[in-house]
Amino acid sequence: MDSKFYITTPIYYVNARPHIGHAYTTIVCDTIARRQRMLGKDTYFLTGTDEHGFKIERAAQARGITPQQLADEVSGAFRATWDRMEITYDDFIRTTEDRHKTRVQQLFRVLCDNGQIYKGSYSGQYCVQDELYVDSAGPGEPCPVCGNPTETVTEENYFFKLSAYEDKLLKHYNDNPAFIQPETRRNEVIAFVKSGLRDLSVSRSTFKWGIPVPDDPQQVIYVWFDALANYITALGWGDPDPNQRKKFDRYWPANMQMVGKEIVRFHCVYWPAILMAAGLPLPERIMAHGWLLFEESKMSKSRGNIVRPDTILQVLGSDAMRYFLLREVVFGQDGSFSFDALVQRFNADLANDLGNLASRTLTMIGRYFKGEVPYPESKGALKDADHAIAELATKTIAETNRLFDEYQFSKALETAWGLISAVNKYIVENEPWTLGDEADNDSRSRLGTILYTSAEALRIVTALAYPVIPQSADKIWTQLGLGDIRKVRLDQLKWGQLEVGTKLGKVEPVFPRADKSAIEKMQKLEEENKPVAAPAAAQPAGTGAQAGQAATQAIAAPPAAATTVTPATPSSEKITIDDFTKIELRVAQVKVAERVKGADKLLRLEVDLGYETRQILAGIAKAYEPEQLVGRKIVIVANLAPRKMRGLESNGMLLAASLGEEGRPVLASFLEDVPLGARLK
Ligand code: MSP
Repeated sequence: MDSKFYITTPIYYVNARPHIGHAYTTIVCDTIARRQRMLGKDTYFLTGTDEHGFKIERAAQARGITPQQLADEVSGAFRATWDRMEITYDDFIRTTEDRHKTRVQQLFRVLCDNGQIYKGSYSGQYCVQDELYVDSAGPGEPCPVCGNPTETVTEENYFFKLSAYEDKLLKHYNDNPAFIQPETRRNEVIAFVKSGLRDLSVSRSTFKWGIPVPDDPQQVIYVWFDALANYITALGWGDPDPNQRKKFDRYWPANMQMVGKEIVRFHCVYWPAILMAAGLPLPERIMAHGWLLFEESKMSKSRGNIVRPDTILQVLGSDAMRYFLLREVVFGQDGSFSFDALVQRFNADLANDLGNLASRTLTMIGRYFKGEVPYPESKGALKDADHAIAELATKTIAETNRLFDEYQFSKALETAWGLISAVNKYIVENEPWTLGDEADNDSRSRLGTILYTSAEALRIVTALAYPVIPQSADKIWTQLGLGDIRKVRLDQLKWGQLEVGTKLGKVEPVFPRADKSAIEKMQKLEEENKPVAAPAAAQPAGTGAQAGQAATQAIAAPPAAATTVTPATPSSEKITIDDFTKIELRVAQVKVAERVKGADKLLRLEVDLGYETRQILAGIAKAYEPEQLVGRKIVIVANLAPRKMRGLESNGMLLAASLGEEGRPVLASFLEDVPLGARLK
């Protein structure tokens, strides 16, 4: 068996601050890393930030700072959050570091030298909006992704011969069935590759914020080529000094590369093809997890539905968040987050089940045995109930370990908590407290057995749960008087290892119960820390929020977000130009459109204003299919006060003509191409 274990998270974009979606990936990896260490593996855990590309350049521009300033600030925030959560990463790579940039250029060069990257002249349609070459469109035809007119361009770019790897990739998937997990993702990737691969453009000349192509500084390396390479540059790949390369030689290929399901293609198609082209071994496994949903959609900055890890850390602590995410989300599938569910789980499983077991057992050992683990009776004297706990504990160790090895975190925890419930029941049924004051030998031995059995089960459960709830497990371990919990070998954990006479540490409650105010506190913290809607620089003068609210409410009459001013009934009331300028009308592009559950008229849109993305709810579901809208440029009232519909916040309103009796909406749009965020005056 491999004695090392190299695990990576995706590197996080620095255009958004950490939210608990990012934390989820990092927590899963941290749990796996901690477990691998406790299985005796030489473990290396890498995380970091992805700092180049157009997205970052644009986000920095909107804030009026340089991309490097933005990267420094947000990368720092990620790192600080992981540190507050005591994430045990071994290295944190930033793609703007020299150690990375030099090696990315080298990788690019290796592929050029191998004849796997060529400079191609692309002549055809180009979508400026998506920065995408559109092979399928003819001159004058729109982009199939966003619907904007394409331009005919002849541009020199570098291309990676991805098309040459189709068969090799399929063979690899076939020969290594565990390479992509779970199975659903594997099937998707195979289908995608079978449908044919085109060569991949791996450079851009339309913006500057990236690693320059070696010997061609007019071009920057495509951000995904740059980012994927982090997994080897962080280990010192390519360094001529063998000392600097030691980690690469030791840890590559990775044993597990964890990704969210939306970036599977990059990791399971492009990344292995790049590695093959460079003559490097492929990772053992790409593991895709699902999304964390909040208010029913993917938690993300652009949707504005994020929860910050700090909020939970401040109120309930890191273990509460870790336990909740691993227990509640079925790994591989999407899962929902809510403050209610978080507090409920915390109280039920941690404060009640585990907390009670620990405090009862340890307090009674303190009271009746001067804080020293008592003798259990001899085997022959044990009762069925005592045997049953020992047997269940042995089964629980095997089963929990197996489930963790299969990355079934939720079931693993459920199984471990099965033992906790059984021991709590055993304590209640055997009523050790009734024996406590008896001085006769029989009562003392019986009491000793019950408390030894409970303490031993507590020790086992604490060790099994440690990778998930390290801070609390560490505390319970210390209270059990057992030293450094990280030294436990989970593969050697057995019933009966608790030594009689072990002196307990100071016994204190580990999980103070959360009351109702915990939810309010967390909600308040989130409210207080909501990012401001639009960057100051993008707010034109004279459109203060107050004025904007008053003016726009006048035309926002019905709850549906499309305006319904019909030409048949022109208003006679005149407004001044000053009134009009209070309304901030801007061009936006629809990025996401979906129906809102339980509201047949409503669509939830995410629209891009160039300087920010925001959520708008629009009453146009009867007139437009969501798919028709994605990519379409529309006009929105950008300074409308936010309001909630169906529990979702709408930040603005789109403009549409309203036709016929039923007020059928027809979206306002332009014949010419207009940049995002352009103001209508
Ligand atoms: N920078 C790229 C990855 C490059 S890796 C070579 C990127 N960054 S990201 O910040 O947008 O997202 C990175 C990862 O964060 C996702 O793949 C996923 O693991 C995690 N998540 C972000 N939002 C999430 C949820 N709402 N739910 C679960 N995971 C989420 O893509």
